[in-house]
Amino acid sequence: MAEVTVKIWLGPSNQKALRVRKGSNLRSALMEAGFSPYQGRFRQLNCKGLGLCGSCKVLVAEESQLWERRSCQIQCFNDLEIKLQ
Ligand code: FES
Repeated sequence: MAEVTVKIWLGPSNQKALRVRKGSNLRSALMEAGFSPYQGRFRQLNCKGLGLCGSCKVLVAEESQLWERRSCQIQCFNDLEIKLQ
C-alpha cells in the first residue's frame, strides 16, 4: 500500500508527521490521527466533509507560500505540509 507523508506544523518548534494511505482525504486522515481541522463550535457544527461550510480550512504550504484550503476537499496523492489554524 503506497503512503504519503503529511507534515503538520502545530507551532514554531512543534511538528508531527503522519503517514497516510495515498489518496486519503486530508480531513479524514487528520481526524483518524486525533487532529482536528476545526476551531471552537465548528468541531460540532460542520458539514461533515461535504465541502459546504468552509470550517475545515488548513494552511497548505505550496511553492513557498501558505494557501488556505478546505481539508475535506484535499486528496493526499503527494507529501504535504500543512498548518492547522
Ligand atoms: S467540512 Fe465543511 S467544508 Fe469541509
